[in-house]
Amino acid sequence: MQSESSNVVLVTGAAGFLASLVARALLEDPQTPNIRLILADISEPKKPAGDSSTAHISTIKADLTNPQEVDALFHTPFGVPDTVYCMHGIMSRGSEDNFDFALKVNVDSVRELLQAARRYGEKIGHPIKFVFTSSCAVYGGPLPEILTPDTIATPEGAYGLGKLTSELFINEFSRRGFVDGRILRLPTIVVRPGPPAAAASSFMSGIIREPLQGIPGTCPIGQNISSPELNLPVWFSSSKAVIRNLILAKHIPSTSFRKHTRVVCAPGFTATIRDEIEALRQVGGEDALKLIKFEDDPPTKRLVESWPQRFDNTYALSLGFVVDEGGMVPIVERFKNDLEAGLV
Ligand SMILES: NC(=O)c1ccc[n+]([C@@H]2O[C@H](COP(=O)([O-])OP(=O)(O)OC[C@H]3O[C@@H](n4cnc5c(N)ncnc54)[C@H](O)[C@@H]3O)[C@@H](O)[C@H]2O)c1
Repeated sequence: MQSESSNVVLVTGAAGFLASLVARALLEDPQTPNIRLILADISEPKKPAGDSSTAHISTIKADLTNPQEVDALFHTPFGVPDTVYCMHGIMSRGSEDNFDFALKVNVDSVRELLQAARRYGEKIGHPIKFVFTSSCAVYGGPLPEILTPDTIATPEGAYGLGKLTSELFINEFSRRGFVDGRILRLPTIVVRPGPPAAAASSFMSGIIREPLQGIPGTCPIGQNISSPELNLPVWFSSSKAVIRNLILAKHIPSTSFRKHTRVVCAPGFTATIRDEIEALRQVGGEDALKLIKFEDDPPTKRLVESWPQRFDNTYALSLGFVVDEGGMVPIVERFKNDLEAGLV
């Protein structure tokens, strides 16, 4: 039997927005001392900004649809990871437009990673923690006004289908003791920094991020600032709360989860696209509003309208997860401050 490793963490999708923030947060996590981080992505991942000692970080360019490249992540010089953050993937609009490719990445490669975690967990003598970033896009069809942990997920898009399929595998692998799964269905995250992403929700960050930098941001919903379509409610979280919750997910005892499922809907809050625009007005002024350009895009509208709009946070909060306080304005303010400080 291989010797037991500890605080070796593998993060996939590590060149992406959220996983790179998770990597940085793990380095600062007092509950994960002396961490050795394996950062993997199909694009070369960068070492987290601000980290001076790099000896304990390994960046690996790997296509996770290739089983050999997946296997190699479990026998680096750092040893077998005790935790895997499975965060790579093809986002919602990208999945809808490339169905077969999306299944290959969002289902087949996740299953391959799970099987590798199972094999190497057996070698080290205990199940590897498997933290998975799922999405509220698993829901579709007629939904109750407030979703609870018992609401059945029936996706209406390739992205939601892929996430739900992977969740089912993680739950069954956890029930069998092959891995120790932790699944967070994440709300839509605002304000996402960087260029627009292949996600149908990308504009929900773009209409804030771009105008605050003096450039136009496109809104694919509605014809102008008075359009009733802007009253669309969305289930949101800040990236700060999501990152905190992803770190907490690693530390919650497996016995705390409901017996039949490792799925938790991460806490969030409901706001409309109009609330976002109003927060932009308060933080960025009238000039910022003029930079929102309206270009109706029916496929995007169809997808985001099918997503759930309000959840009961009780179960997630009882596990110790955290929620944003104060709605959209503090989030937009924080993003503006980060922009001015050159942090995003
Ligand atoms: N951002 C959100 O609002 C949100 C909401 C719900 C769920 N999520 C989930 O959180 C995770 C991270 O999201 P993000 O917004 O940071 O996405 P992102 O697009 O910024 O990052 C995804 C990363 O996956 C990598 N990747 C894609 N195919 C790969 C492959 N074959 N092999 C290796 N790497 C590959 C990409 O190169 C990219 O760096 C995803 O699983 C996403 O589905 C995000």
